[in-house]
Amino acid sequence: MASTFLEQLVSDTAVRFEENFESPPRWIVAAPGRVNLIGEHVDYNDGFVLPMAIDRYCVLAACEKPADDPGDTATVRSITKDGQIDITLEKPERGPAGEWWNYVAGVIAGCHEAGLQPPKFWALVASDVPLGGGLSSSAAIEVATATLVEAMTGTTLDPAAKALLCQKAEHEYAGVPCGIMDQFVSVMGRPDHLMLLDCRSQQVEHIPLVDDSVTLMIVNSNVKHELAGGAYAERRRQCESAAEKLGVAALRDASLDELEAHRAKLEPVEFRRARHIISEIERTVTAAQAIKAGDWSRVGELMVASHLSLRDDYEVSCAELDLLVDLARDLGPEGGVLGSRMTGGGFGGCTVTLVRTADVQSVTHHMAGVYRQETHIEPSILTSRPARGAHVVKAD
Ligand code: GLA
Repeated sequence: MASTFLEQLVSDTAVRFEENFESPPRWIVAAPGRVNLIGEHVDYNDGFVLPMAIDRYCVLAACEKPADDPGDTATVRSITKDGQIDITLEKPERGPAGEWWNYVAGVIAGCHEAGLQPPKFWALVASDVPLGGGLSSSAAIEVATATLVEAMTGTTLDPAAKALLCQKAEHEYAGVPCGIMDQFVSVMGRPDHLMLLDCRSQQVEHIPLVDDSVTLMIVNSNVKHELAGGAYAERRRQCESAAEKLGVAALRDASLDELEAHRAKLEPVEFRRARHIISEIERTVTAAQAIKAGDWSRVGELMVASHLSLRDDYEVSCAELDLLVDLARDLGPEGGVLGSRMTGGGFGGCTVTLVRTADVQSVTHHMAGVYRQETHIEPSILTSRPARGAHVVKAD
């Protein structure tokens, strides 16, 4: 019997692979989604982020095609998306916007550029990272693809280079100008550790999260508002413009006092965006210290402050996320909730709530019940300890 979600997903995918391609997979790889505890929208401002890999993965199973198979392509089939595509290995084409296989094609192109040339292959992809839920299902498929190519070519990329290659695929093949957080943590996440990433130096500090008296609860609002794509790029532009007007390379380099002193130079909206970024970077660094000190009340307060800043100054929350955070806050420390905030890009997706482990059941019951009643939407709730980053599960 499989004992973890990953073991279950791996064994199911291996069975399905054999059904689809009439031979067992030679390679199986896995890359996780992530949840960000704090440090939202600061990765593209050279700031600090504090995510962890979650126990939900994208799995790729693959085997080489026989030498006489015509063409030089990877044939990739998705169980999750119910589709199949032939990707030319020499020069993978970019597909229509929104196609799941753009992530795979983009990473194969990046690997090719980096000199990693896999043989022609069949692959099957399956994922239990909720799609489009703000838990980095796209980084998971990108990083899983890069891990597969590494395994097939017997190469190990430098972890940062691997994450950056995946980020480039997201920029160029999926058209999303994302930062580096999701791919870095999917590559480098460690069991029982949060990952403090300095997005300027790309230095990583793994911070132990072993205190099992607290649990991170992830609540998926199961809404995704359409403006997400364009609004993300717009936020990036506003931050860049604010940094330029403040005379700094990135908002990381400005303090709240400097922002206040230059207020007149900025559009009011740029001022608010910058206030979020500068204060969020400070909150993230403080949260990392509080975690090291085991001060969970302080971490919870910082999470709430982060949410309010994302809601009011950065304007990336939405009614459903605000409701979930309010429901958690209503319970408060007496009800087992230390803090709560939206996580990921926003406009839907998930919240992350810091809960006393003893109260997980009652918090789940309350939040799901009232959310369902008020929105007529069924939320999905999961908890995860910090999980292992991308790895090869099987290589024959
Ligand atoms: C998305 C992006 C990340 C990051 C977050 C917001 O997940 O992919 O790079 O910017 O949004 O923190």
